[in-house]
Amino acid sequence: MDSTGAVWLPEAASTVAGEVDALFYFIFYASLFFFVLVTSAMVYFAIRYRKRGKRVLTSSISHNTALEVTWTVIPTILVFVIFIWGFKDFLNLHVVPRGATEIKVTGQKWFWSFDYPEGLSVVNELTVPVNKPIKLLMASKDVIHSFYVPSFRVKMDVVPNRYSIIWFEATQTGEYNLFCTEFCGKGHSEMIGKVNVVTEEEYEDWLLENADPSEGLTMEEFGAKLYKSKACVTCHTIDGTASQGPSFLGIYGKNEQLTDGSSVLVDENYLRESFLNPAAKIVKGYQPVMPPYQGLLNDKEVDALIAYIKSLSQ
Ligand code: CUA
Repeated sequence: MDSTGAVWLPEAASTVAGEVDALFYFIFYASLFFFVLVTSAMVYFAIRYRKRGKRVLTSSISHNTALEVTWTVIPTILVFVIFIWGFKDFLNLHVVPRGATEIKVTGQKWFWSFDYPEGLSVVNELTVPVNKPIKLLMASKDVIHSFYVPSFRVKMDVVPNRYSIIWFEATQTGEYNLFCTEFCGKGHSEMIGKVNVVTEEEYEDWLLENADPSEGLTMEEFGAKLYKSKACVTCHTIDGTASQGPSFLGIYGKNEQLTDGSSVLVDENYLRESFLNPAAKIVKGYQPVMPPYQGLLNDKEVDALIAYIKSLSQ
């Protein structure tokens, strides 16, 4: 039950976590105190003044000014303390410090993508340096999602057609869970990511290493890497079982029945169209839930994914 985590709350790993927890515990212990006080008084009076022996009539009591003033003033003070304290924390949580690194966050069914100022774009894994303020500029491509990192005590809705902003500064290195906390459809529970907090040097190295993610890989290997890093894995299996979308196993070269009754040969052109404009031709038995990857994949990445999917049909 301390601010480092343990019994109820997850580890506190950001600069604002301590403040948020302190207010939470204040409200919690104040509520507990008054709950015990009121309940004990109630039980005591019920026993002390229960009906015994001959019926005695209570004299008529209209009010008790001192008591009524007390039970009005104390809660009023408490409410104001909580309001002012909460408002102060609210400002701290919403006013982004100067010089924060700005990372663009996009929520879509059912993954997160992160765009760094250096031009790097990654999916589901946000890597940030420790002890540096990070500003997240967030938007959704489809429905409402919500960005939540429990250990940082930050949570914010991510909505289509507008930006929402939060910031945090991690205080220790490590791996933290990232959740979507707004029910956003069938794959909501799979919209899970990680925040990797690393040292400044590790962060610089990471940026360099990821500048060219295809380095040293064949097209198929690069495609296999993208299959995970671009979150295809969330909805498409490679073992033949159907998920949110058709499995990639053996799909290349197949004739697929479409929802409009026609059929299509799964070739390079169909795959490319399905990445960039997935709603164009939906395979029978599936919903048009995939977000367009237009802008999320460059030509080389499209080619690599096609090469990978082809390799799963040999
Ligand atoms: Cu996105 Cu739930």
